[in-house]
Amino acid sequence: VRTYKKNFNTKKCDTVVRMGEQTAASKDQQQIRSYYDLVTDFYEFGWGRSFHFCPQFAKESRQLAMQRHQLRLAEKLKLKPGMRVLDAGCGVGGPLLNIARHSGAHITGLNICEYQLAKARRYAAKARMQHQTDFVVGDFMNAPLSDASFDAIYTIEASVHAKSRLKCFQEMHRLLKPGGVFAGYEYVVTERYDENNPLHVSTMRKLEDYSAVQQTPTIQQHRETLQAAGFKILQLEDMLKPGMTFNSRLKSSWVASPIARALTKALTFTLEKLSVAPKGATKVSQLLNISADGYADAGELEIFSPCLLFVAYKETA
Ligand SMILES: C[S@@+](CC[C@H](N)C(=O)[O-])C[C@H]1O[C@@H](n2cnc3c(N)ncnc32)[C@H](O)[C@@H]1O
Repeated sequence: VRTYKKNFNTKKCDTVVRMGEQTAASKDQQQIRSYYDLVTDFYEFGWGRSFHFCPQFAKESRQLAMQRHQLRLAEKLKLKPGMRVLDAGCGVGGPLLNIARHSGAHITGLNICEYQLAKARRYAAKARMQHQTDFVVGDFMNAPLSDASFDAIYTIEASVHAKSRLKCFQEMHRLLKPGGVFAGYEYVVTERYDENNPLHVSTMRKLEDYSAVQQTPTIQQHRETLQAAGFKILQLEDMLKPGMTFNSRLKSSWVASPIARALTKALTFTLEKLSVAPKGATKVSQLLNISADGYADAGELEIFSPCLLFVAYKETA
């Protein structure tokens, strides 16, 4: 609680709350950093150490589905011991540690949020994985890393925050060795999304604005951006297949129920008044509820998928 309170301040809180009033695609890096400074502990509490969605079969455990989703990337990148790999936008390193353990590769986690990186370093040390991991503070649109320094790169639901996806993918292209593969999961709007339907538009805005996400592309736009950055595409496939869901926890879990939300609000408010929780914690938890509703509704309307798998490579000269 002490570290969290130190990290949390009213200015950051106001910056983040203001995102809901801005036009889509106008969130800057400072806002995104502030957003993750504030929400990381809430995320860990609600989701664990992997901050991404996954497609889940009916009755399948979330843990198993998350594991499959992460390890699919290791398989697509053909990761092996001795390879140098970059995780762009690594969160607190949940997927990074799983993929490093599974593959034996060395993985560098790049992240703009120092608060998350401090945690990632701690978790890697606790898991005795320092020899296979390192962590770098930086922006994936302008990374403090050398040209062609990685055999493979992956990113999981992180380029969704890039003010310019093109810049982000160009940077990944620069960092990758010729012949290396870049893979990841991205957000996309599906064919059902209609930009002239006010409900579709407002649902996507709720999702994007309250989780610091930039405007969500179509699959075709995502393809064009990867190609414009210089990549050759090997696979572009929505892994959210008919009969699967990504939002079961948001819709039907106890945590998402009105009674649990009312209890959380009352508890956060009381802790904030008693100065146990930092000032603004109630506001932030309410903001997360709005974005959770946005994700849940977009899933119900089938206008959105967070599970677009892309696999692309950098040509040899
Ligand atoms: C949805 S989280 C996903 C984290 C991680 N990939 C996972 O699945 O657990 C997005 C991550 O991208 C990072 N991020 C956002 N913008 C970034 C930027 N410009 N440069 C580097 N990291 C960034 C955030 O700090 C956060 O860790």
